[in-house]
Amino acid sequence: MNRKRITVLTGAGVSAESGISTFRDSNGLWENYSVEDVASIGGWYRNPALMLDFYNMRRKELASAKPNAAHVAIAGLEKEYDVTVVTQNVDNLHERAGSTRIIHLHGELTKVRPEDRYNDRDGFSEESVFDIGYSEIHLGDLAPDGAQLRPHIVWFGEAVPKIEAAIDAVERADIMLIVGTSLQVYPAAGLYRYAKNNTPIYIIDPKDVPVADSRITHIRNVATKGMETFKNILNSK
Ligand code: APR
Repeated sequence: MNRKRITVLTGAGVSAESGISTFRDSNGLWENYSVEDVASIGGWYRNPALMLDFYNMRRKELASAKPNAAHVAIAGLEKEYDVTVVTQNVDNLHERAGSTRIIHLHGELTKVRPEDRYNDRDGFSEESVFDIGYSEIHLGDLAPDGAQLRPHIVWFGEAVPKIEAAIDAVERADIMLIVGTSLQVYPAAGLYRYAKNNTPIYIIDPKDVPVADSRITHIRNVATKGMETFKNILNSK
């Protein structure tokens, strides 16, 4: 029997209870750093050392973070559903919680690749990407081809190569779940619009959400508790 398909879009809020800062909450990452300086292709050209330090710091923080009950609950949905996780997060907590089909829209913190001043904006060859775990990279750390290593992160001003796969996952969904994103950054923020007209959309977030759509049910809670509510809704269907 074909299992129902759930597509889960996550943002920084799903990792908040693992102690990882969100971007736009008070004392979030963007309060201490300007996006332009540490998360844009322009920032990379202006001050690559600052950017390398920013991601080295976040990689080190990730080493001591653990998946929380929300990550585990999302992974647990795979017991009864065909689940695709589309995450804006660059942490590896969904993987470590056991989710098996994950689309990282904005890249992955533990991975690096050679910079390519001509193609970086429009994409990169997947085979040049490799995992460094939680270690650091610095100016002068070069790839085999001699190019400077850079974080495998999609920066502002760069293309989002996996957006087509994400749209496909939303179009195919029987149920869409959105957890912990302010829905401020496109194209990720527009993904819910690709859900079919009869696909219910559940949003878990303790704050108001900036979208109005008759398909949406807002579960106003933190991710760990909201996932309990969501599972009860699924079990009542
Ligand atoms: N549980 C669930 N949601 C939470 C929690 C929590 N414990 N704590 C905060 N949130 C919610 C906030 O209310 C907010 O709606 O998580 C959301 C976090 O929003 P942002 O900080 O904007 O993070 P995100 O939406 O993932 O940002 C998208 O912007 O900076 C870029 O590339 C970066 O991927 C990131 C993208």
